Amino acid sequence: MLPPGIIAHAARLGEVRIRDLMSAQPGRAAGLLISHAGIELDLSKQRLDPPALTALTGHLETLDFHARRDALLSGGIVNASEGRPALHTAYRHGARVQGSDAEHLVDETQAQTRAFATRVRGGDFRPAGKPVSRVINIGIGGSDLGPRLVADALADHAGAGPELRFVASLDPSDLQHAVAGADPETLLFIIASKSFSTQETLMNGQAARDWLAGHVGAAQSGRHFAAASAARDKAVAFGIASDNVFDFPDWVGGRYSVWSAVGLSLEIGLGPDVFAAFRDGARSMDEHFATAPLARNLPVVKALVDFWNRNLLGHPSRCVAAYSARLGLLPGYLQQLEMESLGKSVTANGEPAPLPGGALVWGGCGTEVQHSFFQWLHQGGDVTPVDFIGIASHFASDDPRERVLAANMAAQGAALLDGVQLPAGDDPALAAQRSMPGGRISSVLLLDALTPATLGALLALHEHKVFVESVLYGINPFDQWGVELGKVLTKGILDGELSRYDASTRAMLARTGFVSD
Ligand code: F6P
Repeated sequence: MLPPGIIAHAARLGEVRIRDLMSAQPGRAAGLLISHAGIELDLSKQRLDPPALTALTGHLETLDFHARRDALLSGGIVNASEGRPALHTAYRHGARVQGSDAEHLVDETQAQTRAFATRVRGGDFRPAGKPVSRVINIGIGGSDLGPRLVADALADHAGAGPELRFVASLDPSDLQHAVAGADPETLLFIIASKSFSTQETLMNGQAARDWLAGHVGAAQSGRHFAAASAARDKAVAFGIASDNVFDFPDWVGGRYSVWSAVGLSLEIGLGPDVFAAFRDGARSMDEHFATAPLARNLPVVKALVDFWNRNLLGHPSRCVAAYSARLGLLPGYLQQLEMESLGKSVTANGEPAPLPGGALVWGGCGTEVQHSFFQWLHQGGDVTPVDFIGIASHFASDDPRERVLAANMAAQGAALLDGVQLPAGDDPALAAQRSMPGGRISSVLLLDALTPATLGALLALHEHKVFVESVLYGINPFDQWGVELGKVLTKGILDGELSRYDASTRAMLARTGFVSD
C-alpha cells in the first residue's frame, strides 16, 4: 500500500535533525508555507521536505484522486455504503454544483432559514407574545459540535440578538443550566437532528417540552419549538409546526451539517449575514481545493502531512493547540470530523484496510494547555505532532496579552523542535531530568484574524483534508457504522434483555440497582 519511494524518504528523514534540514535547504521555509483564504499553513517544523512531499503527492495521484475529488464536489455517490453523495459543499454554492438540483434545493431552504432567523432576531416571531431572548439548540454530535463551536468562535460578531445555548447531554443539569434565569415565554428551542431519532436529542427535546408546558401550558409549549431535520414527518409528529421545520437532505452528513439548517441557531444568534460570510469563507476553500495544484493545495498538503506522520513516522495521534480562547472547542469538533470519518479498519470495498486509518485527535486551548499536558509533549516517551492554531494579527497587536499569547505559541514550537541538553555539572541526575529531547514536530495554522470567513475556511480545510486522507486510506469517510452497536446494546439494557451481555456488564447492572437480579 505504501510505495517504496515514500518509505525511502521516511527512512532518509527519520533520523535527520530538522535544524539540519533548515540549514541545508535555505528555501525550505518558503517551500513549506501555503496560504489561502486568510489561512497560512507553515510546515517547516515537520520532519519532511519538498522531495518527500512531491513523492506523497505523486502517490495521491496514483489513487485516482482527481476523479474522486470531482465526484465529491459534483454530487457523485461517494458514500457508497449508504448509497448517496456527500454534498455539503452545495451549501457553500461551490462552482461544481451551480445550477444543479442540489443548489436549487439549498437556495430554497436557505431563503426559509434566513427569513425565519430574521423574524426571530427582529423580534417578530413571538411564540408567547414576547420576542425571543434565548435560543436553545438541542442536538448531539454533528447537530451540536459545529453550531456550538461556531457560536463560541464568533461570539464577538453576534451584535444584538437572542443569546445562544446548547444542550447535548442526557445529564439533566445540561438542560437545567440552559434554561436557568430565562423567562420561559421568551425561549425558542431548536431540535437539530438529521434523523430525528437520536435518543439523547429526543429525550432532551421531550424534557424541554415538559418543562416548558409546566410554565406556559401544554397547548402553548409547541410554539416555542423549531427543528432542523432530514426527517420532517418525525419532527411534525413530535409536535413542531410544519412551518418551523427546516429541511436538509440526507446527502449532508451529520458532521458536515453546520452549513445547512443545522446552523439555524447560528443564523439567529449571529445573524444571517455573519452566517453567510462563514459559508463564503468555506466556499473560497472549496474553490481552492477544487483548482489549486496539489503541491500548493492547502487541504491536500495538510492531509499528506498528517498521513505521513501517522503512517510513515508512526505517530498515532495529533494534538491541536488553539491559541485563541474563541477556538477552545475546535479540538472537540475536529475529533468528530476526523475520528468518525477516518476511524475505520475496513476499506470501501469491504477488505481489511492495510493501514490503520486516521490519527487520534486531541488538544485544548493555549496557553492553558502549557500548564497541563505540554509537559508530556516535551518530555514524554511518545512524540506527538502538534498543530498550533493561532491568529496572525496577535503578533503585532497593541494589546500586550495578545502579543504574549502569540509569543508563547511561537516559543512552544521552538522548544519542541530544539529541546535542550543541559551539561551534567555537579548534578547529572538533575541535568538529565531537566533536559528535553527536542526534534518534536509541529505545524502552524495562522488565521489572519478570527472572522466568519476565516473560520468557515478553516473548517472547510479540515473537511477536505479528511476526504483526501480517506482516499489515501481507501475508506469511506462519510459513514459511521461503528457507533451502531452501542446504540443497540443500550436498547437491550433498557429493555431488560440481558442474556447476551457479558458477566461484568450484568454484574454492574445488578450491583447498581439498574436491575433487581
Ligand atoms: O451516532 C452518531 C451520529 O449519527 C453522528 O454521526 C451524528 O452527528 C449524531 O449521531 C447525531 O445524529 P442526528 O443529527 O441524526 O441526531
